[in-house]
Amino acid sequence: MAQPDKKNIIIFASGSGSNAQRLMEYFEHHSSIRVAALFSNKANAYALTRAETFNVPALFFSREDFFNSDKVLQQLQEFKPDLIVLAGFLWLVPQHIVQAFPNKIINIHPALLPNYGGKGMHGIHVHTAVVQAKEPESGISIHFVNEEYDKGDLVSQFRCPVLPHDTPEELAARVLQLEHEHLPKVVEELLLKQ
Ligand code: GAR
Repeated sequence: MAQPDKKNIIIFASGSGSNAQRLMEYFEHHSSIRVAALFSNKANAYALTRAETFNVPALFFSREDFFNSDKVLQQLQEFKPDLIVLAGFLWLVPQHIVQAFPNKIINIHPALLPNYGGKGMHGIHVHTAVVQAKEPESGISIHFVNEEYDKGDLVSQFRCPVLPHDTPEELAARVLQLEHEHLPKVVEELLLKQ
């Protein structure tokens, strides 16, 4: 299944998958890196459709598969991942998967961790909290994944302003743009360093 000549990225996504799309575009014709598969915990996630458009294998898994069995772990191992990228993936990764891929799982979070992270802090909830706190800036954090939400070591952060009259949606759009710009490059750098 896995083609050994290139490094393999596996994407996990729960929703729209615009970051997944950026990764699949960026690596579509890359000489040494490919997106090998996209996994989703939502059967109707648009991310799965996006993967099919790129001829990237798209796999759905259930809560039971993920938390109470080795099924997802075994499927992951078949693709021989060099990096697993959580791009809008909303479940905590269980210990048996984190431990199977040390320093090989990263997450993108739409705020400047360690602030505005943790359980329940995802998507628009993050931007609402940032706007309500009248923060002067926000941004994105790309970090390694451990057994706690948003707690692993940082890989990199990028910043953008929060404007005085921003709505959470306006801030979300600015932050998402930053994600689209930087995530593929950070992933590439990590893989070329390995
Ligand atoms: C992204 O903004 C990502 O940072 C965020 O979900 C969005 C997914 O967008 N992730 C989290 O909030 C994780 N805590 P996408 O599906 O269009 O890539």
